[in-house]
Amino acid sequence: MEPVPPETLAERLFPEGDFAFGFGMQRPRQEWFRWSPPDHEALQERGHWLSADPHRHLAWTDDAAPVLREAGALFPDLPVTRSDADALKELSRRWEPDLLLLRRDPSGQFRLVAGAVCFPSAWDLREKVGKTVDAIHAGVPTLNDTLGTRIRAFLDRLPTGQTFERDNWGLAAHGQRNAHPDRALPRLTDDATLETTWLRLEHQAFRALPDSGGLLFAIHLTVHPLASILRPAGARDRLARQLRSMPDPIAAYKGILPARDRLLRQLQTVVHPPQSPQRSGISPRRA
Ligand code: HEM
Repeated sequence: MEPVPPETLAERLFPEGDFAFGFGMQRPRQEWFRWSPPDHEALQERGHWLSADPHRHLAWTDDAAPVLREAGALFPDLPVTRSDADALKELSRRWEPDLLLLRRDPSGQFRLVAGAVCFPSAWDLREKVGKTVDAIHAGVPTLNDTLGTRIRAFLDRLPTGQTFERDNWGLAAHGQRNAHPDRALPRLTDDATLETTWLRLEHQAFRALPDSGGLLFAIHLTVHPLASILRPAGARDRLARQLRSMPDPIAAYKGILPARDRLLRQLQTVVHPPQSPQRSGISPRRA
């Protein structure tokens, strides 16, 4: 996947207005369906979690086979495996993003039928398998009420042969990719600082799989020190406005609530650019 320049992120993720869960669907910024080099750090880590704890990171149901075969055909040369369930593991070992496979049920709703998720942001794949997108989103405050209809309509009418992309962001007290709830990693507290906080960016892709009535939902996670995205002019103000205007239940869901006031105070502290010798008042006067 393409590297992400951190200095572009504040403008991309934090709109000028108040916080709102955004739909933000757009044409892809990169080629999604290609392999990363096997020695890529994220792929190595993915391999580790798939071997160390496959039950936590892989889920498979019998309804998934045709969807997986159609998804596999998007890639240049997926190796032949003994079973479809093994093919999911092979795909996940070679492809950097997490992947979720959905399929229309007899009522026409998309249900999660399989997944390979090594880098979740504090959710558990095992609790989501078999559920509809609405049910999966039920724990996200306000999401179904504000965007549910639009999400359903979008997924229903996803044009074939095209990939769509959107972003999700979150903050964390650690730079680990795998934030599975079982790992009980440190959470943001009222001691958080801009220097010890990390941005988690989920680049998400959606692709219809029309022959199987399926849908591929991919999540490519990158993590960035928060300070590294706050350098451009205006970036601190943009983030401050998002945090200040975020409703408490959403800030609590995102794990930001305990740290919000402290981070806001730091964001509002005026940062003076380094003074040049001419403007410092100590430079020798010209004759
Ligand atoms: C247009 C489509 C979609 C939109 C706009 C959307 C939006 C969102 C948003 C805003 C969140 C909250 C994340 C946060 O702020 O931290 C979320 C969470 C989530 N979404 Fe979606 N989503 C979409 C489709 C899907 C699909 C197809 C799946 C497939 C299973 C999915 C699975 C999830 C999961 C697992 C979570 C985390 C839930 C939890 O924490 O329990 N989403 N989504």
